[in-house]
Amino acid sequence: MCGIVGYVGAKEAGPILIEGLRRLEYRGYDSAGLAVISPEGRLGTVKEAGKIAQLEGILDEGMPPGTCGIAHTRWATHGAPNRLNAHPHWSQGRDIALVHNGIIENAEVIRSKLSDLGYIFETQTDTEAVVHLIDEAFQENSTLEDAVLTALRQVEGAYGLAVVSSRDPGKIVVARKGSPLLIGIGKNGENLVGSDASAVIQHTKEVVYLDDGDCAVLTAEGYRVFHIEEGNVQRSVHQIEWDLEAAEKGGYEHFMLKEICEQPESIRNVMRGRLLEETGDVRLGGITLSDEELAGIRRIVITACGTSWHAALIGEYMLEELTGIPVEVEYASEFRYRSPVLEDGTLVLAISQSGETADTLAALEEARARGASTMGIVNTVGSSIARKTDFGIYLHAGPEIGVASTKAFTSQIVALALFTLYLGRRRHLSILQGRELVAALRALPDQVAQTLALGPLTKELAVVYGDAQNFLYLGRGYQFPVALEGALKLKEVSYIHAEGYPAAEMKHGPIALIDDDMPVVALAPRDSVYAKVVSNIEEVKARSGRILAVVSGDAPELIGKVDHLIEVPHTVPALLPVLTSIPLQLLAYHAAIHRNRDVDQPRNLAKSVTVE
Ligand code: F6R
Repeated sequence: MCGIVGYVGAKEAGPILIEGLRRLEYRGYDSAGLAVISPEGRLGTVKEAGKIAQLEGILDEGMPPGTCGIAHTRWATHGAPNRLNAHPHWSQGRDIALVHNGIIENAEVIRSKLSDLGYIFETQTDTEAVVHLIDEAFQENSTLEDAVLTALRQVEGAYGLAVVSSRDPGKIVVARKGSPLLIGIGKNGENLVGSDASAVIQHTKEVVYLDDGDCAVLTAEGYRVFHIEEGNVQRSVHQIEWDLEAAEKGGYEHFMLKEICEQPESIRNVMRGRLLEETGDVRLGGITLSDEELAGIRRIVITACGTSWHAALIGEYMLEELTGIPVEVEYASEFRYRSPVLEDGTLVLAISQSGETADTLAALEEARARGASTMGIVNTVGSSIARKTDFGIYLHAGPEIGVASTKAFTSQIVALALFTLYLGRRRHLSILQGRELVAALRALPDQVAQTLALGPLTKELAVVYGDAQNFLYLGRGYQFPVALEGALKLKEVSYIHAEGYPAAEMKHGPIALIDDDMPVVALAPRDSVYAKVVSNIEEVKARSGRILAVVSGDAPELIGKVDHLIEVPHTVPALLPVLTSIPLQLLAYHAAIHRNRDVDQPRNLAKSVTVE
């Protein structure tokens, strides 16, 4: 995820900005850059793909000394991760520089309007549209803040941004909508801005968190906050209680917990600008097939590894139910070494968080060699899988640093739902069915936020059951892959042995294991197989099993039959896996803490498996 830092004061800005960028490194990035304004009003910028150390190496080349500047670490969303697309972006006259986090949804509309006015676009980013818009707005405004305000009134989407200009030097103008930003109040005639506290904490622990719609002007002397609609506003000053190390994790103890808690936002991001309520449809700019080509898809093979493979299984249920297209899910490591039959009309879909998993990449190459058309659902922009597929959908979940995948999994499910809707609406899925799914997607981030309130309960359960040697996870239909994922999460981070099983399969073998030493997690939301799962739960109870049931809404049928009810909100069956997987992530996390494990870097595991 991108990071922002800015400084205005009496000291040399360059080294302070570089230091701030280093503090943001933990968020993951592919390029970085900074802009500094000299006291006589000269704007200098440097940016580079790769690591901050490289940027530092070229800092002295042509950079004027200055005491006011902004800097950025980029994690690509629009356009490849290279120097050109790195931030800051600047105006044609090189007198305005801007750094931006978030996604500008109407960038195409702005680009075409400004191109008609003679603006030339050099990058593939959505951000460049905003800097030219500010440049245009400067024609009718005399201050940078007024030009930024005029420009932002035309912008749709999410942003945290910081702007400097040699036309109005000695100040940084910042704005926030949907992407966090805070002001760091310096002590000795200096002020800072950061996308999170870690960027400023070395200089100050007094911060002002901006709200959505807030803008601010920072100078060496002070700062002023104003709201885009309401004018000047007061925002309270907060004291940061964390130390530097904790600040990098946003105050969370571990990246895994931070990433679990980020899910309302990561799910908003995968849907941003893509839902079309009116037509019950989605807009997917990355799907470059014509409707005719889409109609020619007769079979889909989804290939992936690990957690991404579990998301693929959920995709299989969705796609078959709502589009009628036959789907198969293949472990990438198996697919690559057999002789898969890929007849005409087969689409091979690779799902990967990192975009670099060696087996998935090889499976994709095998599919291409056999002439199949290929698609990717990938988190990392510009990664190998993203580049090797014909078209695809990005997750925009931000970097996932904890080794155990959490937020990427739920974003993958949502991306699969978007693709299902897209295909379905171009087949037989009615507008009413489309609207129902769009409405459910729209409600999902808030429901995820509600589900996160299960933190304390899952923590208690982890203490009660965290010493068990084995766990069984049971689910049916859409919940079977959730059972597999719940078991994988627990094994990975707590090292407790766990198995996921289709609930009805239990009686064909694993039922022999059940006793009161083996907790059973039963996924029992109210879907079409609810009554069947209740029967499976009774079978466990009859053998003295201890049961933790994940339900959606009330489940009176289960009272007295299970030991613990874990209640998540209800939604349509295809999206229930997003909600039911969250308590399982939390349970795994707390069990790992209970057992004193290294949660973010479990033994023997790598975040990105780039070897066979
Ligand atoms: C589990 C986990 C792994 C990955 C798998 C595929 O928590 O992280 O199972 O899901 O290695 O990785 P990607 O999605 O990067 O291809």
